[in-house]
Amino acid sequence: MQADAVTQAPVEAVFNPASPEYLADPFSQWRALSARGRLVWYEPWQAWIMTRMPDIMDCWRREYLSSDFYDWEFAPPRPPQDQWSNYERAMIGHSLLADHGHHRLVRRIVSPAFSRNVVDEIQRRIRPDVVQLIADLEGLDSFDYIERVANHIPFISISRMVGLPEKYWPDIKQVVLTFTESWNPTISDERREAARQDSNRAIEILQRVIAERRANPGEDDFLSELLKVEAENEAFSDWDIITLILALIGAGADTTLVAQQWTLYALLKHPEQIETALSSPEAFANAFSEIMRWSPTSKMGFARYAPQDMELLGQQLRKGQMVLLMPHLKDRDPDYYPEPERFDVQRTFDPDVLFGYGPRYCIGAAMAKRQLYLTMVELFKRFPDLRLDGEPEKDNSDHNAVVFKSLRVRTGKGA
Ligand code: HEM
Repeated sequence: MQADAVTQAPVEAVFNPASPEYLADPFSQWRALSARGRLVWYEPWQAWIMTRMPDIMDCWRREYLSSDFYDWEFAPPRPPQDQWSNYERAMIGHSLLADHGHHRLVRRIVSPAFSRNVVDEIQRRIRPDVVQLIADLEGLDSFDYIERVANHIPFISISRMVGLPEKYWPDIKQVVLTFTESWNPTISDERREAARQDSNRAIEILQRVIAERRANPGEDDFLSELLKVEAENEAFSDWDIITLILALIGAGADTTLVAQQWTLYALLKHPEQIETALSSPEAFANAFSEIMRWSPTSKMGFARYAPQDMELLGQQLRKGQMVLLMPHLKDRDPDYYPEPERFDVQRTFDPDVLFGYGPRYCIGAAMAKRQLYLTMVELFKRFPDLRLDGEPEKDNSDHNAVVFKSLRVRTGKGA
């Protein structure tokens, strides 16, 4: 009797990432949601939730759903081409999301720009900024890691990675902060429009930077690599470069900010594993997968849209409905990870899907891991006795991620 009553309770009664209970214990909510089935309708978000890894992997691999925000039933209508601003030209006309064939072509031809050598070179460029940020903390007894370090890293990394001259940094900084809002379904139309305007300004700057770099080639950065790619590939244009840089900002800024906070938190909660985690970039790459598995950062997962009316996993989907892939639901499942509560930076991941899988595997994975490794190594080199200054309070205001309101740490070497 009781079991029936529980099964029939609305899904939002057992899973609600906006609730204080979710902050305290998301794992029992993840279990309750998964128990509802492979594809679960979630009324508050008007979306289907895909809960099981084999289904998610299949969806990632075969791409039978759309990744294009404009295919969502509640997206603003696609404006006609004669009304496009630069924003629409980048997001619709040359979207990496809309056209699978073009996406695969772009991924194939830009892959040299993400080679080991280029990532090494980018790390070399970012290091002085990171060292300086951390040197500025010398003499402090305690500080907020988010305010003093984490908030600055996404912008520094993306600007140095792309090769944006410092004179353009103030304008670009705004876009790094607001770009993802331009298609965020949970905010007001006014705020979305403001983000779109910021993006338009950034695109003008990117056009200027591209023209300047073309006139004065020679820098060893991502933009120069892309200009070489463009010169050798007719199907690749300035607009592909602009769309790709916006994609790096969109996908690389928020993720990095979240990862910075949880990486430090997880390591400080397990100080006996710091040395192993930071013993080499390769050791850290594995440790980072464990950090993100152990850390309950995710709320919504990855959005896809039904390209037509269709049947999927026993459910009837309407064209335009959102499907959220939630690979994080497996992260504390003992069928996937023995002793899932235990934090172990040497845990084996096979397959490791932290950065996705298939054609849309994260393009910035190597960059993200290097940049986090670099920051943690420099931080613990300067502050080997770093520890948490009390338990940080979680912040539930972001629609897609659990972060901290602040992350205060003690250096153990104050003046
Ligand atoms: C810090 C941790 C990061 C994590 C955990 C992460 C994870 C992911 C995942 C899971 C996907 C696939 C999303 C989907 O299937 O919808 C993805 C895609 C992507 N990521 Fe990352 N990412 C991170 C950082 C970055 C950074 C730093 C950059 C860029 C500098 C970046 C650029 C991208 C891009 C451009 C895509 C889309 C690729 C495509 O559609 O072909 N990511 N990322």
